[in-house]
Amino acid sequence: MAQVPTYKSLKSLFSITLMAATLGLMACSGPAADSDIKARQDSMKSWGDAMGVMGDMAKAPDTFDAAVFKEQAAFLAEDAASPWSHFENQESMGNATEAVWSNTDGFSDEAENFQKVTAELNAAAQNATSIDDVMPAFGQVGESCKTCHTDFRAKND
Ligand code: HEC
Repeated sequence: MAQVPTYKSLKSLFSITLMAATLGLMACSGPAADSDIKARQDSMKSWGDAMGVMGDMAKAPDTFDAAVFKEQAAFLAEDAASPWSHFENQESMGNATEAVWSNTDGFSDEAENFQKVTAELNAAAQNATSIDDVMPAFGQVGESCKTCHTDFRAKND
């Protein structure tokens, strides 16, 4: 099974990355635009990793590990608010679509919904003894990633 960093190691990895980004910015005063894109993409990538760990358990229910699942769900819930402030500057398009800036209400609805469903998944994970206990909430989170990407993430990347 693929080894994905646990919540703690992901978190420290993330702060090292952030630190490096900050230092790099100070050293060469590069455009803030690029650090915004990097910060939000780093978040999204780590969400993808967490979803992968939980998704593997969904595919093979007998591999359900409550502690690991809880850790990944907690990570998603804790990080769920972090990318959105990095979408303020339209210069920093990255692989976002125009709609992020033309439909700001729609985008913040999706971002808020994501924070809601990850909090629900985290709550469901607390006392889960099998994948069945978390499946509905996990499905909602997957749906939230998908819905937002449909309108707000460029297709061909
Ligand atoms: C509110 C909208 C929204 C939600 C919710 C959302 N994403 Fe994204 N995601 C985006 C946008 C916009 C981009 C493009 C960002 C960019 O390129 O700067 C993106 C990019 C990504 C990327 C590519 C990162 C890269 O390195 O280019 C991955 C992977 C990803 N999302 C995974 C996820 C997963 C997994 C979830 C759910 C757990 C999720 N996203 C939820 C909007 C969202």
